[in-house]
Amino acid sequence: IKKIGVLTSGGDAPGMNAAIRAVVRAGFYYNLEVYGIYRGYEGMINDDIRKMDSRSIAHVLERGGTFLKSARSQEFRTPEGRKKAYDNLRKHGIDALVVIGGDGSLTGAHLFYKEYGIPAVGLPGTIDNDLFGTDLTIGFDTACNTAIEAIDKIRDTATSHDRLFFIEVMGRDAGFIAINAGIGSAAAAILIPEKKMPVESLIERLKSREKAKKESNIVIVAEGGKSGGAAEIAEKVQKILPTYDIKVTILGHLQRGGAPSAFDRTLASKLGVSAVEGLLQGKYDVMVGVINNKVVFTPIKRAIVDDKKVDEEELRIAAILST
Ligand code: F6P
Repeated sequence: IKKIGVLTSGGDAPGMNAAIRAVVRAGFYYNLEVYGIYRGYEGMINDDIRKMDSRSIAHVLERGGTFLKSARSQEFRTPEGRKKAYDNLRKHGIDALVVIGGDGSLTGAHLFYKEYGIPAVGLPGTIDNDLFGTDLTIGFDTACNTAIEAIDKIRDTATSHDRLFFIEVMGRDAGFIAINAGIGSAAAAILIPEKKMPVESLIERLKSREKAKKESNIVIVAEGGKSGGAAEIAEKVQKILPTYDIKVTILGHLQRGGAPSAFDRTLASKLGVSAVEGLLQGKYDVMVGVINNKVVFTPIKRAIVDDKKVDEEELRIAAILST
């Protein structure tokens, strides 16, 4: 391997820049040429590929977003799109890839490896933390901190007005952000797609908190739940508890922005270097992650297919703390 390409794909996550920087710097350390592929797989298809030098990665570690930009490429899902992408890689002589992104992005890398044999190592870059094969994904810690900071602010106004807030957090189909942000913000309840909480139980919880004279109630709702988002659930609760003053806030994309936390900078840096070393050691079609503080390589297929379970212990703790 002499030339590697690096790209970010799917939803951006804080720490992606730190990961790109680590890949580029590690590449230089091992005497490789490194190419930045812009807008994920779109850039591979449209030949938006530029050689990186040390200036390309100056002052990016501390910035949110991804300077390589990102996209969710529909064309790469087609065999024709992947053929164009392959031809462009050949043109530049790129013989291996580091793909930073979530499950969709890693699925692309896996398919590409199967079809064209382009060695790829994936880095888990998503705020959702929904990838098997790593305890934490790049961006999750920052997103949880951002969510908690926002919820703290909502708590001030909720307490001032004795209000019940339903706050929706991101996570696609997974409740990891909701659990973490819920525990960290003393939520009255945390609703996640992985565990259904009937409205009746939520009502019971709210009534017992009323008896305990709680001044404000924050319910964290993970997007992607089968019972609907924060607005739908709030509506159901309002019908049963008409005297409650209920408001809804959807935190949305602010959870994806901002400077990466210290944790995400370190995680991204560690994984970026390990990805390059993995490629040089012949570890292909794998995702590099951290489990129990150790760097581990997991076949991409497992990372995207195997279910990452929510931590039952965290759920138990959250339940104790909210009653
Ligand atoms: O995967 C990251 C994520 O932010 C999810 O939490 C969310 O469901 C999705 O991306 C939103 O995607 P988009 O920015 O394309 O609307």
